[in-house]
Amino acid sequence: MFSTTKVLVNRRVTRVLRAAAAARAPPMRSRMPRSSILLPNSVPTVREVESVFKGKMPTYEEEMNAAKAAAGLGFKYDVVARKFIPGSDISVPYAMPAWPAPEREPELKTAMPGPVSKQLIEELGETGGCGGAVGLFIDTEKSDGNYICDADGNVLLDCFGNIASLPLGYNHPAVTEAASSPEWIRASTHRAALGVMPPLEYARQCQRMMKEMAPAGLDRVQTMLCGSSSNENAFKAACMAYQAKKRVAEGRGPAEFNEEEIESSMANQAPGAPQLTIMSFKGAFHGRTLGCVSATRSKPVHKLDVPQFDWPEAPFPELKYPLEENVEANRAEEERCIAAVEETIERQKAVSRDIAAVIVEPIQAEGGDNHASPYFFRRLREVTKKAGVFLIVDEVQTGVAASGHFWAHEAWNLPEDSPPDFVTFSKKAQTGGYFYRSELQPCGGYRVFNTWMGDPAKMCHLDVILSVIKDEGLVESSAASGALLLGGLKALQQQYPGMLMNARGQGTLCAIDAATPAMRDQVVAEMKKGGLLAGVCGQKAIRFRPALTFKAQHVEQALRIMTDSVEKVHRQEA
Ligand SMILES: Cc1ncc(COP(=O)(O)O)c(C=O)c1O
Repeated sequence: MFSTTKVLVNRRVTRVLRAAAAARAPPMRSRMPRSSILLPNSVPTVREVESVFKGKMPTYEEEMNAAKAAAGLGFKYDVVARKFIPGSDISVPYAMPAWPAPEREPELKTAMPGPVSKQLIEELGETGGCGGAVGLFIDTEKSDGNYICDADGNVLLDCFGNIASLPLGYNHPAVTEAASSPEWIRASTHRAALGVMPPLEYARQCQRMMKEMAPAGLDRVQTMLCGSSSNENAFKAACMAYQAKKRVAEGRGPAEFNEEEIESSMANQAPGAPQLTIMSFKGAFHGRTLGCVSATRSKPVHKLDVPQFDWPEAPFPELKYPLEENVEANRAEEERCIAAVEETIERQKAVSRDIAAVIVEPIQAEGGDNHASPYFFRRLREVTKKAGVFLIVDEVQTGVAASGHFWAHEAWNLPEDSPPDFVTFSKKAQTGGYFYRSELQPCGGYRVFNTWMGDPAKMCHLDVILSVIKDEGLVESSAASGALLLGGLKALQQQYPGMLMNARGQGTLCAIDAATPAMRDQVVAEMKKGGLLAGVCGQKAIRFRPALTFKAQHVEQALRIMTDSVEKVHRQEA
């Protein structure tokens, strides 16, 4: 229930948000329906909400309708929703409902990493240290909901979610309860080889995935181990389908290999091992395994010293912000990139190094949270389809409800007859895998294959995640929380124009740039000291990747800590 005493509204956040609000039209309070609050294109503070609702909570249905209306009415990311005043054609911004106080305040007991984490890092180092990037150890027992607790008892609001892979927060009761079911225990104690002898439940679990999470137009699913193995095997499946199509065009069966193909494949030579290529975009990240790293183009650290395929790169749009003020320039930039895609497809064909597939992220995440418009992606689908090139949409980071849609690519509004050919996933789904069309089915077993092909215990986990997403309306709530977060980030960049810029987001997948990489690192370090864990990406972006249970009260808490941190860095710079 809404609590006035527990809610702490940081004065500075209020000032930031009010400053943004003041720049806009005055509210029409007299005509407001009782359950709405006027937000002049800003986000509400708890006090503002409180003063209008007078402690009355809007119903859950009202909240959900508001979020849906926000998506449907072309809202510009900086209001939570709009609502029509009954009997008039006037719409007013509609606030998120009053929300409860956050479950807890972050609490830092030591510098981070603290002594216990340091000791554990040293011990881990003796066996290799996972390469040396470990920054803290999690106490998985004490972490709870949106709050991560580290080995030293430090509690932080977690907006990075285990590198975007935390679906329902820590220790969600539905998950812990299901984990003691006989089915889950069996799945945990016998890791089946799913490609040859799956457990009884596997067929039903795959059918449930098809029913509840298959992207429109895709009617097959293949589970996998992680994001990289999902992409890696989607590449293979795309190449196999590309070659099968060629054989059919020559009058052979799709799997009717000739002697030359069979022999040359064993010598890693064409035609059995064809010179096909996979095209990816500048700034893309698709994983670090040998095939994936050839498609990854975000940072040298992933690629140095590793032999890679000579695969083509296309430019990814570099959009100018704010989007609404740069419509023409951004459209021209996207057309430039599409023209480059078309030209590269032709160039590769001309040297018999055909592009079998183009892989793209809906938001280039590791590369800097780079966005493109739905128009760009529709054009990409159009030109790849025309050229007979498969389109792989890498939703490893954007998939599973965080974008305000179940799949981020739903926002593209692709024509019904032109879905992507493959959609890969992992992270918040806990199991990896990819959806695809039945025409792309590899002919025969052992073609896309490994011992495990997924994990039966993670299939049980996914079962619960899907139920909770549905029962708790987490797609809609990600849209609403994300709108609130983005509104706050936009207000913050208005308050600190030289320091922060380019606030952007879809659902809770939000990001903002700092003026320089050093300033970004300073702000993020201060945020951590204040009890807020966020990610970084690209050269100067701060990235938010909270769990799906990240609600309005957590958004406000995050903005409050972030505002304090930015102010601190601002004072240091002055
Ligand atoms: C878009 C994208 N694709 C692929 C991957 C690789 O996934 P994994 O680390 O599970 O192999 C990641 C990981 O961050 C990712 O963000």
